[in-house]
Amino acid sequence: MTSFWSLWISFITLAVIFGCLILVVRTRRSEVYKETTTETMHHSFDGIEELDNPLPRWWFNMFIITVVFSVVYLFLYPGLGSYKGYLNWTSYNQWEEEMAHAEEHYQPVFAQYSNLAIEDIANNDTARLMGQRMFNNNCAVCHGQGGVGAYGFPNLADNDWLYGGDGATIKATLLYGRKGAMPPWLDILGEDGVRNVTSYVLSLSGQEVNAQAAAQGQTTYQAMCVACHGSEGKGNLTLGAPNLTDNIWLYGGSFEQIAHTIRQGRNGVMPSHGELLSEDKINLISGYVYSLSN
Ligand code: HEC
Ligand code: HEC
Repeated sequence: MTSFWSLWISFITLAVIFGCLILVVRTRRSEVYKETTTETMHHSFDGIEELDNPLPRWWFNMFIITVVFSVVYLFLYPGLGSYKGYLNWTSYNQWEEEMAHAEEHYQPVFAQYSNLAIEDIANNDTARLMGQRMFNNNCAVCHGQGGVGAYGFPNLADNDWLYGGDGATIKATLLYGRKGAMPPWLDILGEDGVRNVTSYVLSLSGQEVNAQAAAQGQTTYQAMCVACHGSEGKGNLTLGAPNLTDNIWLYGGSFEQIAHTIRQGRNGVMPSHGELLSEDKINLISGYVYSLSN
C-alpha cells in the first residue's frame, strides 16, 4: 500500500470516530429543558410520541467508552492504514505461538512412543489410535477414511504396494514423499500400438482379450515396458511401477482407462510430510498405516 492511501484511510477512519464523538456530545441535551420532562417533541408516528429528554447518562457513557475503545484498539492493533500497531500483532504470530505452545504440551505424549518400532505401534492400541487420528487429519483427504484409496490415490489397506509396505518404507514415503513417473507412449507407439499393448496388459491379469492384438502388444511390452514393470509385469518397488498382473488398478482397469494411462502417461505425487509433521508423529501414522494391511 502506498503511503498516500495509508494516510488517506487513516484520516477517514479517525475523522469518522471524531465525528461520532461530536455527534454524541452535541445531541446529548435537550435544547430547551435542562432536567427530565414530560414535554414531547410535538410530533407523533402512528400515535407514538417522543419525550424531549436527554439521553440517559449510562447510555451516553457507553458511547464514550466505545469511542475510547476504538482509539486504544487502533493504537495497539493493526487497523489504521499500514500502521502495524504498537503490539506488532499478526494472526501468523499468534498461530506460531499457539503451535509452539501445543508442541510443548503434547510433545511428551508423542515422545512416549518414539522408541517403539513401527510394527509394534500397530500392536499398541493407544499408539495406533493416535496414529489413526492424525491420519484422518492429514491423509484421509487423499487416501480416504481407513486408507481405502480412490482413483489416483493408492489403497493403503490392501497388500498391494507401489513402493513397499514394511515399516521403514512406509516411513520413508511419508518423510520424503514419492513421485510416480509413467512416461506417455502415444507419440512413440501410435494409437494402434497403444491399443495392442493395452490388450497385452489386460491379459496379464487373466482377462479375455483379442489374442492377436495381445501378441503384438507383447512384443512392444518386452521392448518398452519391462525396464520398469518387469518381464512378468510384477512391477518394481524402487520405481513405484505398479504390478500389472493383480487386477488392482490405480487409474482404473477398463480397456479405455488403461489405454488412456499408456497414451498420456501418469505422474502421481505423494507430498512429503517431513517438514509438516514431527518424526514422532510420522512414526505413529506409519504404525497405523502398517496396521491397515497387517
Ligand atoms: C495430496 C494428496 C495426498 C496426501 C495429503 C497424502 N498422500 Fe499418500 N499418496 C498420494 C498419491 C497420489 C500417492 C501415489 C504416488 C504415486 O503414484 O507414485 C501416494 C502414495 C502413498 C503411499 C505409498 C503407497 C504404496 O503403494 O507404496 C503411502 C504409504 C502413503 N501415500 C501414505 C500417506 C500418508 C500416511 C499420508 C498422510 C501423512 C498421505 N499419504 C498423504 C497422495 C497423497
Ligand atoms: C520409466 C518407467 C516406466 C516405463 C518405461 C513404463 N511404465 Fe508404466 N508406470 C510406471 C509408473 C512409475 C507407474 C505409476 C504411475 C503413478 O504412480 O502415477 C506406471 C503406471 C502404469 C499403468 C497404470 C497401472 C494402474 O494401476 O493404474 C499402466 C497400465 C502402465 N504403467 C503400463 C505401462 C506400459 C504398457 C508400458 C510400456 C509401453 C509402461 N507402463 C512403461 C513406470 C513406467
